[in-house]
Amino acid sequence: MNPLIHSLHPYPFQKLAELIEGITPNPAKPLIKLTIGEPQHEAPAIVLDTLAKSLSGISKYPSTKGELPLRDSISQWAKRRFKLESLNPDTQILPVTGTREALFAITQTLVGEKQNSLVVSPNPFYQIYEGAGILAGAEMHLLPCSAETDYKVNYHNVSDDVWKRCEVLFVCSPNNPSGAITTLEEYAFLIEKAKAFNFTIVADECYSEIYFGDQAPLGLLEACQILGNKDYQHCLIFQSLSKRSNMPGLRSGFVAGDASIMKPFLLYRTYQGCAMPIHHQDASIAAWDDEEHVIKNREIYTRKFDAVLEILSPVMPINKPEAGFYLWPKLTMTDEDFCTALYQEESVLVLPGSYLGREVEGINPGSHHVRMALVAEESECVEAAKRIRDFLNRR
Ligand SMILES: Cc1ncc(COP(=O)(O)O)c(C=O)c1O
Repeated sequence: MNPLIHSLHPYPFQKLAELIEGITPNPAKPLIKLTIGEPQHEAPAIVLDTLAKSLSGISKYPSTKGELPLRDSISQWAKRRFKLESLNPDTQILPVTGTREALFAITQTLVGEKQNSLVVSPNPFYQIYEGAGILAGAEMHLLPCSAETDYKVNYHNVSDDVWKRCEVLFVCSPNNPSGAITTLEEYAFLIEKAKAFNFTIVADECYSEIYFGDQAPLGLLEACQILGNKDYQHCLIFQSLSKRSNMPGLRSGFVAGDASIMKPFLLYRTYQGCAMPIHHQDASIAAWDDEEHVIKNREIYTRKFDAVLEILSPVMPINKPEAGFYLWPKLTMTDEDFCTALYQEESVLVLPGSYLGREVEGINPGSHHVRMALVAEESECVEAAKRIRDFLNRR
């Protein structure tokens, strides 16, 4: 067996299951889970209709590269959303079956040229980054995002020795779990470093369409356009319909950017075999072409966050995220204690923040935090918030 398999960490939800094993939630209250980032809002009818009508596509082997109409639709969407002059559907876009597998696959494609390769990631992070880096044979280099830095990475603290060994830099913007957004200045700095030290910026943007107010989060390709990096050199974005369109089960997203990376990525993917079924491609076209359902979705999240924050703000320091659908409050007790006591007393389950991070030099920047996914209907999220308020008021 591949010995690197033994270096993989258990997934946060497995650790959570072990933590609460043997603890009984309050039987007087139905269990509410705020743990998994799985959108519970309705999937758009227009997409489901298209999916049903396209089922005959099941009789064909799909190609890894995807059909041109899908790549065209993605190109049009990305150009509108990120104000791009061009994004070539033939050379700069690949549909992927959800960004999870694609984040893994790109790391396998990119790691291996340098000696003692590093995969650089924020800490806490989406755990696929770590698994991808480990299985590619790289060492993970983790950059802390803590309350002291507004949950942002301070890239100026990263030494050139690290950039020299870096092959993949993961940027998660909007960030899971904190919702922080990478700024134009940060991207300008990172693109300079990527060019100077020859690494790829992998921007995981799967929460970019869930934001509050009128200002859509900046995307990496948008930053490239503004900064004059017109060919998107060293830059890739990962976009998904899972959160934007409430369709995590469709397994549909795309990767776009630097054509010189997309070419070997396509070659890698032909072996990995993750081609998107034709009927999923047709449904995805309907989703990328429609913005109305995305606007409505944002309105639902905005109402929900406002209602929940009104209840929780008086009892704990808690901020509305810049974007995304998680709350990431800092606690005065340990995250595991908070999680188990809340589960036992109020039948509300949240995810301990330390499970999303790693200890570096004695500090796990996720500890003393919990992640709450506001993905359920508003009434359920409000009920959870009231129970958390009562729980904190008793302490
Ligand atoms: C930060 C982040 N990236 C990527 C994904 C994967 O999304 P999908 O594979 O559904 O596109 C998730 C899912 O929760 C996520 O939180």
